[in-house]
Amino acid sequence: MREAILTARRLAKTYVADGVQTHVLGSVDLELYDGDFTSVMGPSGSGKSTLLYCLSGMDALTSGEVVFEGVDIARLDEGRLSELRAQSFGFVFQAANLVSNLTLYENVAVPGYLKRGRSVAQTRRVVDGLIERMGLSEVASHLPSQASGGQKQRCAVARAVVNEPAIVFADEPTGALNRANSLEVLDLLSELNRDSISVLMVTHDVRSAIRGNRVLYFEDGGIRGELELAPWDPSFSRDEAYVREREAMASAWLASLSW
Ligand SMILES: Nc1ncnc2c1ncn2[C@@H]1O[C@H](COP(=O)(O)OP(=O)(O)OP(=O)(O)O)[C@@H](O)[C@H]1O
Ligand SMILES: [Mg+2]
Repeated sequence: MREAILTARRLAKTYVADGVQTHVLGSVDLELYDGDFTSVMGPSGSGKSTLLYCLSGMDALTSGEVVFEGVDIARLDEGRLSELRAQSFGFVFQAANLVSNLTLYENVAVPGYLKRGRSVAQTRRVVDGLIERMGLSEVASHLPSQASGGQKQRCAVARAVVNEPAIVFADEPTGALNRANSLEVLDLLSELNRDSISVLMVTHDVRSAIRGNRVLYFEDGGIRGELELAPWDPSFSRDEAYVREREAMASAWLASLSW
């Protein structure tokens, strides 16, 4: 049995705007397993981002519970929730959303100083290591406006993991990138996952989804299907036969779900 790191039970989400109710998540039961790379696919508007926001404590549930380390995060007040997000979760979105008047280095370091139980010197070492690993050494002193789209998104990945989170939540992290930059960001996520960080990634792209060892199909506010794959092997990331084989499996599965 794999160990659950995050458990959602009867998770429901209804938005109310101008008196109109939109039921986005029905009653979702989901376990994320420790060390997994879980991908989520599904039609636009089906509720994938809402699911990610609710699981990660970025948005309030309407009902149900989300349990992380024995605590129902839906019941935490905003102070404890933001502490939990800062210490245990990392986030990557389609846009890098870097702070415009901080350098790339500072964009990674500033949230890094919030990590509990770590000295400034230790944090600097972690940041230095990440800047190097993300291929940002040459541009570390640049402002975001002086960086390319790929550099900015790699910086966002570094920022997401600077506090050594248990889970990285990624919502279409390559949605705004060209193919080469997408591959780099996916490789980084795959490597971080191999180094034991759990990943939940929403994506529209089959080639991205197959980075996961588990792919969920989300439709009409609920999980409609699930595909298990062998864990991605980063040493085969550029092996076209390896990628195609996984892609064919996922495509056949998606076709069976009328994707
Ligand atoms: N703040 C909000 N207020 C009202 N309705 C919302 C709000 N946010 C999202 N919705 C609605 O909830 C539904 C699900 O949205 P969500 O963003 O989760 O979909 P998605 O699956 O991520 O779509 P996409 O693939 O296009 O990103 C949509 O119908 C959307 O209009
Ligand atoms: Mg979305």
